[in-house]
Amino acid sequence: MILGIETSCDETAAAVVTEDGRVLSSIVSSQADLHARFGGVVPEVASRRHLELVTPVVREALSAAHVQLDGVERIAVTQGPGLVGALLVGISAAKALAWGRGLPLAPVDHLEGHVASLYLAPEPLDPPFTCLLVTGGHTMLLAVRERGDSERLGTTLDDASGEAFDKGARLLGLGYPGGAAIDRLAHEGDQVAFEFPVARVPGLDFSFSGLKTALLYTVRDLGPEETNARRADLAASYQHAIVRALVQRVREAAEATGLERIAVVGGVAANSELRAALPDAAFAPLELCTDNAAMIASCSRYVEPLPYPRYRDLDAYPSVP
Ligand code: KG4
Ligand code: ZN
Repeated sequence: MILGIETSCDETAAAVVTEDGRVLSSIVSSQADLHARFGGVVPEVASRRHLELVTPVVREALSAAHVQLDGVERIAVTQGPGLVGALLVGISAAKALAWGRGLPLAPVDHLEGHVASLYLAPEPLDPPFTCLLVTGGHTMLLAVRERGDSERLGTTLDDASGEAFDKGARLLGLGYPGGAAIDRLAHEGDQVAFEFPVARVPGLDFSFSGLKTALLYTVRDLGPEETNARRADLAASYQHAIVRALVQRVREAAEATGLERIAVVGGVAANSELRAALPDAAFAPLELCTDNAAMIASCSRYVEPLPYPRYRDLDAYPSVP
């Protein structure tokens, strides 16, 4: 029985997962509403909210799984990358729980955690595969040859794809976080109404900042009234450009590595156009695409845990090591 805790950004999450990958509970308390009026996550506000929520969320995860703390054999926690203040709240809670019970503690990388969302029941995926990792903070291509071990093939040179969705949503007045809102609106729009350029960078890297600027100029040229009238077309065309870039690169990566099986994880993996554009790929289950603690507990199965009490000075890391 593994208790996972995740607090890297604006979701306070806890989950109970078994060693063989069954999710007994997965509780996610989103702070999105709290940050919406600022148009993005305010780090200090996030830390304070995690502090209020972490204990009740852990309690709820245990109670939903019908498990007592006595039944937990390992604690897993996100160590980074993420907002340092936010991470430290989860790490402190995890240390306290593990310390109090003399349990081992497994520090988990958030990005490896997203990959491990594929390893849960009822349909766990087995490596090797080429993985497209698309979140609000990162956009990467990975060669995954074994569970818990991935080689980075490419990354974004500027914005992450989720960030491109969020910034686009903001320009279209759709609020924060905007990926899901663009996804919904795009269904009513025409994907070829506007032509947005997809930057071609060398190798297997990505670039999305030019796309966001193109949308900014289009919105400026249209003016507020016309922008409002054509919001669905703008959303559909903008989303289409992001999806095209992702699909093109992951196919190139699969060819380059010879790992033909493609898997997609992270918040943007919830996007309906992306899921339809890669019909042969494995996608993380919808509820495990955006941040959650089940994926962190899952990943801890492939990490060397720190035995009690060696984790006393475990620290967070803010960016990709
Ligand atoms: O993985 P995640 O929850 O957090 C990070 O680790 O960053 O990803 C959040 C990102 C946000 O940028 C959000 O707009 C995006 O995932 N997202 C979507 C959709 N649902 C969430 N993007 C496109 N389409 C969606 N349906
Ligand atoms: Zn994430």
